[in-house]
This record gives sequence, C-alpha cells and structure tokens, in this order.
Amino acid sequence: MSDWLKVFAPATVANVGPGYDVLGLALDSPGDWVEAMRTEQRGVQIVEITGDDGRLPRVAALNCAGVSARLVQEKIDPAAGVALKVHKGMPIGSGLGSSSASSVAAAWATNLALGGALSKVDVLDACRAGEKLATGAPHADNVLPSLIGGITLIRSYEPFDYLELPTPLELRFAIVSPELEIKTADARKILPERVPMEDVVRNLGNVAALVAALYEGRLDLFGRALDDFVVVPYRSRLIQRYDDVHAAAMDAGALGCSISGSGPAMFAACTEETAEVVAAALVDGFQRSGIGAKSFIAGINTRGVRLVDEVE
Ligand code: HSE
Repeated sequence: MSDWLKVFAPATVANVGPGYDVLGLALDSPGDWVEAMRTEQRGVQIVEITGDDGRLPRVAALNCAGVSARLVQEKIDPAAGVALKVHKGMPIGSGLGSSSASSVAAAWATNLALGGALSKVDVLDACRAGEKLATGAPHADNVLPSLIGGITLIRSYEPFDYLELPTPLELRFAIVSPELEIKTADARKILPERVPMEDVVRNLGNVAALVAALYEGRLDLFGRALDDFVVVPYRSRLIQRYDDVHAAAMDAGALGCSISGSGPAMFAACTEETAEVVAAALVDGFQRSGIGAKSFIAGINTRGVRLVDEVE
C-alpha cells in the first residue's frame, strides 16, 4: 500500500439567491479529489492535475490548491513536505465552487497527510487564501460549506462568525451548466459599489425568510425567498437567456431559481418529484437559443470534505 491518502470536497452553491457572500450550501455531487503524501522535500509540490484540460497552473504557489495546502503545511510543520495530486470533478469557472473544492480538498488532505492535528475550522483561513488567489477575494461562502457540509450562513467576516442552518434532506437542486464561462473576479467587478435602499430592503426580507424557511421546514417559502435584487440584476446580463431559463424552470414546477455563485450555472430548488422535469426545462431554456447546456440533480451534502480511502 502506498502512503497516498485521498480526500473528496463537494461542489457548492454560493449566495443561495439573496445571500451574496454570506449564504452557501454543499452539493452531494460533483466535487474534486486531492491525494496527498508526506515527502522529504520541504513545502508543497503538485505532481499531477487531471480533469482540467491542462488549464490550471502546476506551480503550487500559483494554484489555489497549492496555496491552501502550503498554508496548512506551514501551520503544522514548517519543515514538512507534501506532494499533491489534484483531480478536478467539475468544470472550471462554472459557478459551482470549483476553486473552493480544490482549495478545501488540498488543505484537508495536507492536514491528514501531516498527522491530522487541525480541525476543519482551523484550515478555513488557508482555504480562503486559495479562494483569494483564484477569484481575487477571500469570501468564504463556497469554502465554508465545502469544508463542513450543509447550508451555512456567515453572520460576520470581521470577526468571523458563522452558523450551520437546518438542512432539509428532501430538497433537491436541479443545476444547469451552460457552455459559457464567467470568471468570478469579472462577475464581482461588474457589481455597483452602492445599491438602492429599496433593493436592500427586498433582499433583507428574502434572506430572513430563507433562514426562517429552513428552521420551519417550509420548502415553498425557501423557494420564494431565493429571489435576489442586489446582484442578480447585474450578473444575469452575463448569462444570455437568463430570464427565459428562469421562467422555464418556474413553469416546470421549481420552487425557486437563481444563479449559482457567480454563474454561469443556475440552480433551481425542487422537490424530488419535480427535479427531473425542471432540469430538462433548464437545459431546454438554453438550447432554444443555441447555447449548449448540461444539467444534473443533487441533494445537500451534510458531511463536507472527507477522507475517501487509502490509495492502493
Ligand atoms: N459569493 C461569491 C460571488 C461566490 O458571488 O462572487 C463566487 O465565488
């Protein structure tokens, strides 16, 4: 048996509609895998990346997984060495928290390879540094649910304070990934610095209702509360056909629909009964104007990052 160990970190839906930078949830699939092994060579080396079509930097200092792993290694033992193999299980720049899943998997795999002294919360800042390298901002609404699973709410960044919200296991998400690519850094730059008070008021109502819906187990209210008035009006312009695709999902029986993270993926909250029909409607909505799209259905991952198995 080799000394490699393997870790899985789930994809995430950040913002969850009105909760820009504060709400996020982990999906049960897809996700990224990272293998790690302690080595004699000090620092972090990325020895292999698969599933990225050669697009990601192999130099650890330029790769979000390498950066988060390096910070964890430094925290545990500055003299230690770790080799990583990164296996991408989702498209890059899709809005499903691809960079976060890699950062989280790499941080956790490094911690375990070096003895597992750190908790998931202990590696959060390292994961946020990986996210900052990839997107330009250390927001945590992807990395936090990818680390600990479930639906998370960041009450405050400074000081960092978060809550784990109740997870309705019957909730399904129909996710569509159109053949468009949006860089998170670009999708953040287009947002205005100031927003009208009336839009803030509408968002406050929806964030509060969304949290209440989770505590009360009211899926209909959860769906209604997914509308965002602060960010989506700007970002939806980057997603051709956004309004038509949104309408198609709602007509097909979705509880609610919005952009996943910074897009271009869109998610629709569904019951198990409607998820297939909604997923088909989301794809059809894009294909009607010649934009290729793929869909999948996922539930909520409640475990977060985890050790998969020892690698043979
Ligand atoms: N909250 C982030 C954003 C998530 O919407 O820009 C994407 O990384």
